[in-house]
Amino acid sequence: MHNFVFHNPTKIIFGRNTMDAIGPEARIWGQRGLLVYGQNSIKSNGIYAQVAASLQAAGMEIAELGGVRSNPLLSLAREGIRLAKEHRAEVIIAVGGGSVIDTAKAIGAGAMVEHDVWKFFTGKKGIKQTLPLATVLTLAASGSEMNSGMVITNDATLEKFGFGHRLLHPKVSILDPEATFTVPPDYTAYGAIDAISHVLECYLTTTDPDTPVQDRLMEGLIENAMTACDRCLLDPHDYHGRANLLWTATLALDGLTAAGLGRVGFPMHLIEHSLSALYDVPHGAGLAVVMLGWLQHHAQTAAPRIADLGKRIFPAIEATNANLGAAQTIDGLRRWFQRVKAPVTLGDLGIPAGDIPRIAANSKGLARLWRLQDYAPERVAEVLHRCL
Ligand code: NZQ
Ligand code: ZN
Repeated sequence: MHNFVFHNPTKIIFGRNTMDAIGPEARIWGQRGLLVYGQNSIKSNGIYAQVAASLQAAGMEIAELGGVRSNPLLSLAREGIRLAKEHRAEVIIAVGGGSVIDTAKAIGAGAMVEHDVWKFFTGKKGIKQTLPLATVLTLAASGSEMNSGMVITNDATLEKFGFGHRLLHPKVSILDPEATFTVPPDYTAYGAIDAISHVLECYLTTTDPDTPVQDRLMEGLIENAMTACDRCLLDPHDYHGRANLLWTATLALDGLTAAGLGRVGFPMHLIEHSLSALYDVPHGAGLAVVMLGWLQHHAQTAAPRIADLGKRIFPAIEATNANLGAAQTIDGLRRWFQRVKAPVTLGDLGIPAGDIPRIAANSKGLARLWRLQDYAPERVAEVLHRCL
């Protein structure tokens, strides 16, 4: 186990009927707030009315930025920064999934500087302060509600970059499982797949040979993501199914699983971000496809580790050797993806094989920023050919 410092400053308020806490929680940080949300879901499922009433009752003066779409765009974040400055916002309130929360994080950081917020994503500027952020999470997936990351697509350059800084942690996040009852089956599955990938990226890229604490935690999160997702697809109003999926997705990328693993990388995300930037595919859908290709690529050098995982999460696997075990593990994941109606090939995403060089070239900038230089476009292309 490597040395580590684990410090997660985000306060989590979890459970039934917790959404009314957003007004008092936001008011702690100031009176003028910017409310950030997505396209339509919170208006149609009643969350908007409930949040607005709580903010009003707490005496908040609110400006609004709606319209955040999945794979959120830099242009809208810039509009939010302009609004936050004009309104002299003291706190940002994000109500939605990862796209909304990440947009809110970019606004909170960009509102404190005169330079363009994209300079944070390209490493040209460092974050020195951010506006406080309070979130109401409505979709179990990204983990942004309890982590230091934000992912934005530059709509001019079609680069989808992720950037992390400890100041980007939300002050508080409210996780009410009932807020996710209306998540449709596809995004329920994509969110579970995203959570699984967050764990797998760490589980399979650590080089530390002695991490049983983290391994059992990660295996448990992967298993829970699948079983909780199955429950929610069976009954979208299964409160405990939704609660288990919600908490699993948050724990999958809040820093705890990676603590003690030493350096880990996110090669699957590196590749998937190019799919989402170029084709606007849902993040979890892109990951389902990339994960199967990357696992086959990775099994060439790490079959035993993948086979060990398989024995834990797919008890039926009785492989006689590591290569067979790894292949059966990958097949087990593919079958589960197909069962939850996720895509499993580039073709399922409508992406032709002839586009592979373009996708590989797009990943170059992020590979440099994420210090994944060994993922040159040629290697990314090799992985993508396994996704056909
Ligand atoms: O826009 P609305 O109408 O709200 O619809 C959204 C959107 O269409 C809908 N939705 C959300 N909550 C709902 C709901 N529909 C019905 N009922 C509800 N309660 O779901 C759709 C997807 O929302 P989105 O926020 O895009 O999904 P997700 O939470 O998966 O976030 C994806 C974004 O997170 C980034 C991804 O790159 C992607 O841009 N990530 C952020 C990370 C981070 N900050 O640490 C890490 C992740 O790896 C990921 O990269
Ligand atoms: Zn992700």
